[in-house]
Amino acid sequence: MSKTPTFICTACQSSHSKWSGRCDSCGEWNTIVEDKPPGIGHAGKISGTARGRKVQLTSLAAAESPPPRNPFGIAELDRTLGGGLVPASAVLVGGDPGIGKSTLLLQAASSFARMDRKSLYISGEEAPAQVCLRAERLGLSGAPVILAAETNLHDILTTLKAEAPELAIIDSIQTMWVDHVKGAPGSIAQVRTASQELTAFAKRQGCSVILVGHVTKDGQIAGPRVVEHMVDTVLYFEGDGSHHFRILRAVKNRFGPAHEIGVFEMTGGGLAELPNPSAMFLGDRNRPAPGSVVFAGIEGTRPVLVEFQALVAPSPHAQPRRAVIGWDSGRLAMILAVLEARCGVSFTGLDVYLNVAGGMKVTEPAADLAVATALLSARQDTALDENTVVFGEISLSGALRPVARTENRLKEARKLGFTAAIVPNPGDTGSGSEMLVRSMANLAQVVDRTFSVG
Ligand code: TYD
Ligand code: MG
Repeated sequence: MSKTPTFICTACQSSHSKWSGRCDSCGEWNTIVEDKPPGIGHAGKISGTARGRKVQLTSLAAAESPPPRNPFGIAELDRTLGGGLVPASAVLVGGDPGIGKSTLLLQAASSFARMDRKSLYISGEEAPAQVCLRAERLGLSGAPVILAAETNLHDILTTLKAEAPELAIIDSIQTMWVDHVKGAPGSIAQVRTASQELTAFAKRQGCSVILVGHVTKDGQIAGPRVVEHMVDTVLYFEGDGSHHFRILRAVKNRFGPAHEIGVFEMTGGGLAELPNPSAMFLGDRNRPAPGSVVFAGIEGTRPVLVEFQALVAPSPHAQPRRAVIGWDSGRLAMILAVLEARCGVSFTGLDVYLNVAGGMKVTEPAADLAVATALLSARQDTALDENTVVFGEISLSGALRPVARTENRLKEARKLGFTAAIVPNPGDTGSGSEMLVRSMANLAQVVDRTFSVG
């Protein structure tokens, strides 16, 4: 049986049925080659003369002790990493340009270096003088961080080998340039090769490497997405330009829990930690406002209260607007459809705006009920009692599904002065939380009991 050859793009690994000069997945030129598995003949037999060495096999029971951790002394960063930096690991810190990645990592490197751990900060974007100026503004001039401005990867690797630091920060991976690879710095082939070599260096030499990666708005070219599967840990630094809050979110962690977050505030003197962020994302709550609902959420291991704000207004357009910030627009469409189909609440001819206060991004499905309640409250122009928090997942049938860690959510809400909660039924009833808990089985009950929709 002869197999038709397949072709693969060496830049983005996409497969193609025929050769062409340009890859239509990533747009790179001359990167498509025939995909031949090395050393395996057509009959599936291993060809070639070199005989492999038998690898050492172990059992699951041969459990290794957890990896050692070197904390940075910045609690929000250490928690996001799962307790500190694992030696010989590779970490990617991604985020929009200007969000504060260089600031965070310069602070981290300084804190690390002050604990007598040799730290190198290599900038491909700024001259050492600029980095020094920033360090001065951050009050870090005295920290024994070693600086370099370089983009040639082989020079960097040679330097790292000679210096043997415990930590090397590469800011940013998009500026690195490998001479034997075609393409400009920032192209996928360059970014991938540079990351591969730096990650391999980290494992080989026992030096932790932190790569900084810019994400472009479309998340594609020069995006660090291609790097994600190579590194051990991926952190994203999020925030929106108009707010001072910044969230460091672990999206992948081979050595610890993912989805942990660290919360910072960008100040004139750099990033300040916010160790108790549960009230940071509440808007001005002096008086009840229609469309505003507080969601009792969980981010990583911590409860965080977040305010959802909805606005519903008659639309002047043939196709009404659906605008959403901080929440998934597909999920909003689903909730609008459930409200219409299961509860008879129509949003036809109405513009719908949904916003999460404080520049926070919410991904938990547990926020469904808070979104639905905010939409109902805005549509009916009726404020929900301002001392009530809401959480629960909504299914397509309109049923409310219980969510994890009800007790933690209620406790945190109580701590911040809330007295009542609307939650799914059945589920944990939150007994002992000293809250007035109203549990409801489906969305129609919420509509009937909380808002009279006519
Ligand atoms: P930066 O760390 O350069 O972002 P990135 O490396 O992600 O591109 O941060 C840039 C922004 O941070 C810039 O708009 C100015 C602001 N900033 C402060 O507000 N306070 C400070 O102390 C510093 C150093 C920067
Ligand atoms: Mg930068």
